[in-house]
Amino acid sequence: MLNFNFYNPTHIVFGKDRLSELATLVPKNAKVLITYGGGSIKKFGTFDKITEALQGFEIFEFGGIEPNPQLNTCIKAAELIKENNIDFILAVGGGSVLDATKYISIAAKYEGDDYTSLIKHGFSPIPVEEAVPFGSVLTLPATGSEMNAFSVISHETGKYGIYSPLFYPKFSFLDPTLTYTLPKKQVANGIVDTFIHVVEQYITFPVDARFQDRTAEGILQTLVEIGEQTLNNPEDYDTRANFMWCATMALNGLIGSGVPQDWSTHMIGHEFTAKFNIDHGRTLAMVLPSLLRERKDKKEAKLLQYAERVWNITEGTSDKRIEAAIQETEKFFNRLGVATKISDYEIQKEELKDIVSQLESNGMVALSETGDLTLDVTERILENAY
Ligand code: NZQ
Ligand code: ZN
Repeated sequence: MLNFNFYNPTHIVFGKDRLSELATLVPKNAKVLITYGGGSIKKFGTFDKITEALQGFEIFEFGGIEPNPQLNTCIKAAELIKENNIDFILAVGGGSVLDATKYISIAAKYEGDDYTSLIKHGFSPIPVEEAVPFGSVLTLPATGSEMNAFSVISHETGKYGIYSPLFYPKFSFLDPTLTYTLPKKQVANGIVDTFIHVVEQYITFPVDARFQDRTAEGILQTLVEIGEQTLNNPEDYDTRANFMWCATMALNGLIGSGVPQDWSTHMIGHEFTAKFNIDHGRTLAMVLPSLLRERKDKKEAKLLQYAERVWNITEGTSDKRIEAAIQETEKFFNRLGVATKISDYEIQKEELKDIVSQLESNGMVALSETGDLTLDVTERILENAY
């Protein structure tokens, strides 16, 4: 097992009908800014439940955070905080609202005049010392943002992954019933996103990290078990609760501790969202199968373990077992209604070279757990994914 630090201070409040406890976790007398997206929280009554729970607090609101949140939108919220001396933010929504709120929390304390400088540090800690504290009420299980210190901000033609230890929410409310109103498409996106978060921390090379491996396999098996059920029976509490907890645990640092990680699918997928505005989860599903095929020699041991322990594939040559496991993965995504080929979207083959150029200009030229997934390899992955 590799050396690691594990630190995660986010207080999780899990379960139904618990929003009334918000007032016990928001600091007393705080001026609270509620951040949200395109309006689903108003349409489905969540906003009212929250303002009722926060009676007595001075409330401000900032809506209109778009999926794949834009830097310029976040700056407006940061200015609102500065103008009104707001001292707590409550993010209510999916990963986009959470990620935007993280950026807003540091931008509101930023004294300089170049807000873009805050998104240019990759996954090194952003050099800031202060943030407005924030908590969240999650309405879409997918990204793990509710219990991690990452954020992804879009600006002009790029998506920027950023990190700060200040980005852990103080608390996150996970109420499965608040997710019942999700469109099927978003549920499918969330299942695929969660699945691939696990895969990118698991299908690398073995380091004898048995707890991490078995936990990763447990999450993958749970998703396979409940994926279609929760998609087709959105109000079945238990399957939705299991999905929601899987999504949080998939990317809160637990299964990634002490193991190699390969975020290539995410980095390539982000470029498809930036250029074609395709939902995050969908971009991953169209890249991963081809990437696993291309990298099957480097990932052989873990792919065979994945085949056996997640899909019960034990017969045939190594090559056959690996191919069968990749096909099972594709079929699972397809059963959720998520396509696994780039050509299933309105993308011309000639446009794939733009994705490669974008990766190059963003410095994504040596991806993977071994740092040798170079642009020529990416090009092959994309051609075979078409
Ligand atoms: O904006 P509203 O009106 O709220 O509608 C949203 C949005 O249109 C809707 N929605 C959310 N909860 C709902 C609901 N509709 C009905 N009922 C509900 N309960 O769903 C749509 C998509 O929301 P969004 O937040 O964009 O989705 P998701 O949670 O998948 O987040 C995607 C973003 O997270 C980033 C992605 O890159 C993308 O920008 N990621 C963040 C990560 C992190 N912070 O660790 C890791 C991920 O890999 C990912 O990169
Ligand atoms: Zn993701």
